[in-house]
Amino acid sequence: MLSAVITALLLLASGCEGLPTYETPLSGRWSTLPNITRDGLEYPRQEHAAVLVDDDIYVLGGILPWNGKEYATTNIVQKYNMITGTWTEMASMPAALNHANVAVVDDKIYCLGGLEALDETYWNATGRSAVYDPTIDKWSVLPSMPEGREIGSAATLVVDDTIYLPGGLAYTNITYDQEGTVSRFTSYNVRTQEWAILPDLPAPRDHAGKGIYQDMLYILGGRAFGNKNVVSTVFGFNLTSHQWSTGYEPMPIARGGVASASIGSQMFTAGGEGDRSTPTAVFPEMQAYDAAKNTWIKYADMPLPIHGSDAVVYRGEIVIPGGGIVTGATLTPVVQTFKPPIQDLGEQGMSPMVMVYQVIIDLPRMLLTR
Ligand SMILES: *[C@@H]1O[C@H](CO)[C@@H](O)[C@H](O)[C@H]1NC(C)=O
Ligand SMILES: *[C@@H]1O[C@H](CO)[C@@H](O)[C@H](O)[C@H]1NC(C)=O
Ligand SMILES: *[C@@H]1O[C@H](CO)[C@@H](O)[C@H](O)[C@H]1NC(C)=O
Ligand SMILES: *[C@@H]1O[C@H](CO)[C@@H](O)[C@H](O)[C@H]1NC(C)=O
Repeated sequence: MLSAVITALLLLASGCEGLPTYETPLSGRWSTLPNITRDGLEYPRQEHAAVLVDDDIYVLGGILPWNGKEYATTNIVQKYNMITGTWTEMASMPAALNHANVAVVDDKIYCLGGLEALDETYWNATGRSAVYDPTIDKWSVLPSMPEGREIGSAATLVVDDTIYLPGGLAYTNITYDQEGTVSRFTSYNVRTQEWAILPDLPAPRDHAGKGIYQDMLYILGGRAFGNKNVVSTVFGFNLTSHQWSTGYEPMPIARGGVASASIGSQMFTAGGEGDRSTPTAVFPEMQAYDAAKNTWIKYADMPLPIHGSDAVVYRGEIVIPGGGIVTGATLTPVVQTFKPPIQDLGEQGMSPMVMVYQVIIDLPRMLLTR
């Protein structure tokens, strides 16, 4: 009943003409936030990590133009406040990293290894780890990853006190297009400060989509040994029995380098590399794996197709800052947001109160954007 009322309201609102940010009521809405800026200048970024703490979206590390270099690996941390709409620079990470494995536990940001640039032609994994406390704007060093387990671009996920780092890259020899995709899997417990070694993935994966639903961790698509070698597989890891499973419904299109975040049972994967139908080789697709139903849902395409970014969820909206607009590296400062259709998510774990709230805050915005 409630969902029918909301559907009717949405149809009514989206029936107004001239709403450029809407495709159809059922495919979700793409929009943008202010570009990433630093000192008032646009600051494109790629291969960074993004996380949410309270109302702040943090963008950490990655590559950017610096000192005459087109793709310098950086330790810069910036945050965007969703209330004030401003970008602020915060304390830099202890090391310059791209493809850093970053997660939030109890409002603290954990950066557990990533790729460091030995030079502009070779990125190598480091296990150096640190934690950032937003209340004091300070980084503290943590125990490094176990030796021989160093990775970047892991499908980093959190359950309670534990950060899981499945798969990833051991290195990228950029000039020779050689990539060290791994199937290794570690976890880090933030309370005990201990690392654990978990069973290897069914196959090597990096740049994958990801999500956790109930007692299962999922790895969606990604790639194995290079950005042209994208895959559509879905792997599931049972967090109780510590066993991997395969045979889930594959991604409708194989994609790697997606920006990924979850709402309820839906694990969203935006963009990515490996599109053979366009010269940029970057996909516009936004598709979600629904772990409750073992199905994929196709949503509206991204207005600006990107790869090499990350995603966070802020009040039911997926936020994707920056990324690359051409395969390899061509950085953008554009921040894209995606709001999935409400009635879809209503069945997937959003409470009726949240749904009502979404409609109330959405209606004026929908009318204003005419
Ligand atoms: C954001 O950056 C893009 C790419 O540089 C540019 O085309 C666009 O005009 C910028 N948007 C705003 C609002 O400044
Ligand atoms: C890359 O990192 C690994 C792990 O830290 C290390 O064993 C290896 O020697 C490094 N490779 C190069 C080329 O520095
Ligand atoms: C990168 O690959 C080339 C070609 O195989 C090799 O000669 C070079 O040593 C590699 N670089 C590193 C740092 O391993
Ligand atoms: C995960 O493993 C536990 C323990 O074996 C089992 O009870 C549970 O059903 C499994 N979960 C799924 C989704 O298969």
